[in-house]
Amino acid sequence: MARILITSAIPYINGIKHLGNLVGSQLPADLYARYMRARGHEVMFICATDEHGTPAELAAAKAGKPVEIYCAEMHEVQKDIAAGFRLSFDHFGRSSSARNRALTQHFAGRLADAGLIAEVSEKQVFSRTDNRFLPDRYIEGTCPNCGYDKARGDQCENCTKQLDPTDLINPRSAISGSTDLEVRETKHLYLRQSALKGQLRDWIVSKTAVDAKGNPAWPVLTTSIALKWLDDGEGLQDRGITRDLHWGVPVKRGEADWPGMEGKVFYVWFDAPIEYIAATAEWADANGLPDVAWQRWWRNDMGAEDVRYVEFMGKDNVPFHTLSFPATIIGANYDGKEPWKLVDYIKSFNYLNYDGGQFSTSQGRGVFMDQALSILPADYWRWWLLSHAPESSDSEFTWENFQVSANKDLADVLGNFISRITKFCRAKFGEAIPAGGAAGPREAALIEELTTRIRAYEGFMEAMEVRKAAGELRAIWVAGNEYLQSAAPWTVVKTDPEQAAAIVRLSLNLTRIYAVLSQPFIPEAAASMMAGMRSDDWSWPKDVAAALEVLPVGHVFDVPEVLFRKITDEERAEWQQKFAGVRT
Ligand code: 2FM
Ligand code: ZN
Repeated sequence: MARILITSAIPYINGIKHLGNLVGSQLPADLYARYMRARGHEVMFICATDEHGTPAELAAAKAGKPVEIYCAEMHEVQKDIAAGFRLSFDHFGRSSSARNRALTQHFAGRLADAGLIAEVSEKQVFSRTDNRFLPDRYIEGTCPNCGYDKARGDQCENCTKQLDPTDLINPRSAISGSTDLEVRETKHLYLRQSALKGQLRDWIVSKTAVDAKGNPAWPVLTTSIALKWLDDGEGLQDRGITRDLHWGVPVKRGEADWPGMEGKVFYVWFDAPIEYIAATAEWADANGLPDVAWQRWWRNDMGAEDVRYVEFMGKDNVPFHTLSFPATIIGANYDGKEPWKLVDYIKSFNYLNYDGGQFSTSQGRGVFMDQALSILPADYWRWWLLSHAPESSDSEFTWENFQVSANKDLADVLGNFISRITKFCRAKFGEAIPAGGAAGPREAALIEELTTRIRAYEGFMEAMEVRKAAGELRAIWVAGNEYLQSAAPWTVVKTDPEQAAAIVRLSLNLTRIYAVLSQPFIPEAAASMMAGMRSDDWSWPKDVAAALEVLPVGHVFDVPEVLFRKITDEERAEWQQKFAGVRT
């Protein structure tokens, strides 16, 4: 049994996330967490809301609420929606927690002690119209790298380059649109990540191939983005980690005041990843556990050496997780006294597009998580999103494709198998597993195929090859369906009821196996399948033949309700229409 720490990029607090956000981090992280738990490993799965920064302040102002209240409310909203999608976090924390405040200040203090913080008097953009400094993403302009004209002050969405607001060409206020901007002098802290460039580079390069312990190479998407920002142009830039804002973690050096930094807060991207750690501490607090309970996940001197730490995120988050956050973790251990856990594997995703364009939170384009759940249960979405995860390239959601895959994979293949076999058994033998003859060559062939496919499925799940894992699971469902089709118990029963009973017994046992295997992808349907088989045996089918004997002769079952209904053409057209516009 291994210990596996899993974090999903923490979603911004302002607004409900769309399906593109979901498939880029939280959902695949959940898939992996569920699989690893199913295999008997000890898992800590952490997510949180990312609550600081200007977007939260502005969204609260727009909602007419104090920012603390707005964040508390939106946290509950996001938490409920996550539960609706069956995201199985061990803890869904808040980056505005007392734990994160203390840890963020602590890390800043350690980095300062390490000589990795520079105090810089800098010029910053001040908007006379808005009467405030305009931080990072509230300045828009043209990207100096690729020419995209809606680049934000912190990063260009188009080419992913990390930017400073003053890099933008033709800058304007994203709040008011005003170009009445001036540059004023203000003091800020910089994380001297350039001083760690060599170490970071060696570390990233070591992830481009299988390492000495046999750990797999990171996805090329992850390492190529990291290496690009390490080596391109002037190379790794030092990052400003403070802002002139009210809402955020107050700048302190550990527990001490930081002279000259009064009234300033840490930059949201400095405290957000630290929340992975803080949220684990929040988990311990919420469960009345002592500090060692979370420290054994995060401190190599307290047991975390044995932990495998995996992060999930969209590609736009890769620079912060491969460079800035590791710089914090590495830098904080400058004297060898605080060995914090460094990530072991970063699974990153491309973008999911929506019906010929992009999903966009700011423009309200696409399907948002609450809307999705209001029209269909979570499993439909989970299945489609995971089986079309944007791994090797961007992928696209279309209503046609969604309808076809749900109807085919879920209703025609999986749902049909379960419905046919349970109803047939009820009609011919009653609602209990029938006794019957021995297995023949057809059954042996099925067991062999299932064994091969299940081993392949395990391999893809372990490697986080999400699409390939979905493909293999689908093939496992198809194998059962084809077996049933060719074994044809409804014909056999007329001449050889014993043999028909054997086919039924195997197929009902296969239903339980399907529940176990499918649970990471479609947990609600899996629970119905298991409940239908009146079983609680979620043990993994290591030995397929043995797993097909788990439900004994005479074991009572229920015919489950329809697992997956078909999406009609009318519904598809209606939803396509309904979600064509812009959410306000
Ligand atoms: O892109 C985002 O949604 C960010 N809120 C992700 C932060 S991940 C981490 F650093 F905590
Ligand atoms: Zn750009």
